[in-house]
Amino acid sequence: MAKLWGGRFDGKNEAWIDAFGASIPFDQQLAKQDITGSLAHVKMLGATGIITIAEADKISAGLTVLAEKAANDELVFTIENEDIHLNLEKMLHDEIGPVAGKLHTARSRNDQVATDMHLYLKEHLLEIIEKVQHFRGVLVNKAEEHVETIMPGYTHLQHAQPISFGHHLMAYYGMLTRDQARLEESIKRVDISPLGCAALAGTTFPIDREMTAADLGFNDLYMNSLDGVSDRDFILEFLSNSSILMMHLSRFCEEIILWCSHEFKFVELTDTFSTGSSIMPQKKNPDMAELIRGKSGRVFGDLVGLLTVIKGLPLAYNKDLQEDKEGMFDTVHTVATSLDIMAGMIDTMKVNTQVMHDATEKDFSNATELADYLATKGIPFRQAHEIVGKLVLDCTQKGIYLQDVPLADYQAINSVIEEDIYDTLSSKTAVTRRHSLGGTGFDQVKKQIELAKAAL
Ligand code: ARG
Repeated sequence: MAKLWGGRFDGKNEAWIDAFGASIPFDQQLAKQDITGSLAHVKMLGATGIITIAEADKISAGLTVLAEKAANDELVFTIENEDIHLNLEKMLHDEIGPVAGKLHTARSRNDQVATDMHLYLKEHLLEIIEKVQHFRGVLVNKAEEHVETIMPGYTHLQHAQPISFGHHLMAYYGMLTRDQARLEESIKRVDISPLGCAALAGTTFPIDREMTAADLGFNDLYMNSLDGVSDRDFILEFLSNSSILMMHLSRFCEEIILWCSHEFKFVELTDTFSTGSSIMPQKKNPDMAELIRGKSGRVFGDLVGLLTVIKGLPLAYNKDLQEDKEGMFDTVHTVATSLDIMAGMIDTMKVNTQVMHDATEKDFSNATELADYLATKGIPFRQAHEIVGKLVLDCTQKGIYLQDVPLADYQAINSVIEEDIYDTLSSKTAVTRRHSLGGTGFDQVKKQIELAKAAL
């Protein structure tokens, strides 16, 4: 079959080479955006007198038919027509005849595809931002239920100091809030129209770029045609912001996986978010959390892949840029579904508050409390640290904890220690008293939640 660009060719095409060069298997996802872009372009061609109004109307009517077919999944794409742009142009020709050939006046597939990508990402960014916002809401609600749930706080995955589980959840709220801000801030660099940059140098036709940009809802236009057709920073930025977001989800999933283990038993996921084993009847695996942790890898890969594609490209368009699509589609899909799963999983997760609390009673995570107690009584903190360290060693040898040491022994160590030490050593007191701004004290966690609710 003759190519739409076949004029200067007389060699025959090889199907397997066509298949290698074609993007239609994946860029058909841009059908809607491509038609939208064409509608704006043809309207402008008519309005500026580059083609007649009658021709513009005929082309618009044909494009509208294609848009309906696209919405109903009725378009049949072919490899011979290479990509979404040429496939649709061929279909338009079949629909309305040779006048279809006027649509491509003052346009190139280079500004066309860039326009499609900007439109696609803008739409999906807004969807993803909504999902992040929803997940933040889930985190805040869960945190509110668990302000007073005590759990071990960790450093080096060793018990460090007791904290509020609500505080732990709100740490993820903070990460997701930054993720959302990054995504929102990036919109202004997605919301720019490359349409009218043409192949690379602009056009001799008296086009109106402001008109098409406004018609497509873009907030700005590229002021350099070379930049407009070859810029993919907006996609890189999306992949980069998505990578950070997925890294956050992955860290959270890692914790959930640990917490679901027999050793921790801090939480239990509902059956919906768990799977069994084909051989071990007892198994209930946190597969969804593991998958999100794993899928972060493909998003990082999409970012590194595209950076690598672009880093050596001379201006302006190069066919390498066709490789920008699959990674972007993949990341949009991965991030959107991962956020849905996270929100559902956290919302329905059962928290074993007693187990969490008990884990703070049979450990030395109250050692800082004792050192602080001594420091408040005037003993220099370094000396207090040394005293408590020795005592912990002694307790470990005896197989007891700080709360088990008799008052007489405490007073023998230092007479400033009184009966109130036992309350000081309880994990609940340790958490409650951490009133410092942003600390794990219940009042501070409540404050974080209030601020978050107001922000949401
Ligand atoms: N399918 C191509 C892509 O996705 C469209 C642009 C083709 N431009 C060209 N000069 N061959 O990048």
